[in-house]
Amino acid sequence: MSDTRIQDAYAILKENDRGTYTVPTKGLYPFQWNWDSALSALGFGHFDEDRAWTEIDTLFAHQWDDGMVPHIIFHVEDDGYFPGPSVWQTGRDVPTSGITQPPVAGFAIRRLYERAGDKAQAAARARPLLAKVAAWHDWFMRCRDPQGTGLVAITHPWESGRDNSVDWDRALARVPTEGVTPFTRRDTQHANPDHRPTQAQYEAYIALVEGFRALDWDNSRLHDASPFKVVDPGFNAILIRSASDLAWLAEELGEPEIAARQRQIARAGLDAFDSLWSDAHGQYLCFDRVSGSSVDSLSVGGLLAVFAPVPDARARAIAARIADLGERARYMVPSHDPDAPEYDGKRYWRGPLWLIVNYMIADGLRVAGQDAVADRIERDSLSLIDSGGFAEYYDPITGEACGGGRFTWTAAMIIEFLTRQSEDA
Ligand code: DGY
Repeated sequence: MSDTRIQDAYAILKENDRGTYTVPTKGLYPFQWNWDSALSALGFGHFDEDRAWTEIDTLFAHQWDDGMVPHIIFHVEDDGYFPGPSVWQTGRDVPTSGITQPPVAGFAIRRLYERAGDKAQAAARARPLLAKVAAWHDWFMRCRDPQGTGLVAITHPWESGRDNSVDWDRALARVPTEGVTPFTRRDTQHANPDHRPTQAQYEAYIALVEGFRALDWDNSRLHDASPFKVVDPGFNAILIRSASDLAWLAEELGEPEIAARQRQIARAGLDAFDSLWSDAHGQYLCFDRVSGSSVDSLSVGGLLAVFAPVPDARARAIAARIADLGERARYMVPSHDPDAPEYDGKRYWRGPLWLIVNYMIADGLRVAGQDAVADRIERDSLSLIDSGGFAEYYDPITGEACGGGRFTWTAAMIIEFLTRQSEDA
């Protein structure tokens, strides 16, 4: 494709490529991040299918024995990032963090396989990944849903990927921070501190890490012991979608047992999912497992829920809710409702929009036949690139580029959007 945006996006992917993994962006994030990698692989898939599979292989080469796939793999030493391996102390040969991230790999490998030019080669790359992704999903059900509700909890805001969302405010305020080891943040040296989480939030993030570390990162104990346990509809939607995509791929590649188990995980999740729906707000809400109550916070997590195959009526309501947000914000989809008192259009996940979330919402809306709203999301995403470049995130009212620049997954999502449009034309 001759579109210069595609060429620019390819250049960013290549620039952030470290051979077998990509960094999200230079400086701010110098290692491999879990969901960044899975989504960035989709971008590589358009010009180097082999490299795309390698991105996922590298991620799963660092899977823990219990099935967990860590959120950061510290392939190199770099003291420009905090918290590094000496804080996590997970005792791995190649150090990793001790928590996970949204399990989008199942979705990504189905998409890579479906798009592959050479199906036999793609099957050879995908087949060894099936059992690994399945083991990760099983880990979630075992360790993050010990009561068998069908839905999993995150035990750290970083696991959601939406670090400082308003969704976590109350739950995070309950995390005791007395005695947390003093630290120096590095993120605020790379990015505008007004665009990043607050110091109080960082203290709670690190207090959680230190608490889990004291339990030797034993995942059979962490869920119950954690003072922070939230069921996030966006996170669960990603797991449900990945489980059903993995089931599809396993069936295709002749692994019926994996397929059956993944279908079961997806079914149980979908059956329980409606308990998170709010008629009053026309979207899904988080559920706080510690307080036993729903979280009255209008974040994008409840809209990202449409990435799962939710009932048509729910997808229609989400499309209507996004259309309503579209009356109040110039660019879709803000990570928090602009009329909420906590909204902050530049501060990370308290208002700014993210292209990876746009991509997953648009994809879910299209599957549900809500193309008009998906088109708007895609148009807005592309015009942000034209005005602000490939940023980490954007202010949904002004379009200002925020956070880190030359961002890998932003570039990958633009390749995805433009390719879809050209195939559609
Ligand atoms: C960060 O360091 O900001 C990350 O979001 C945590 O993974």
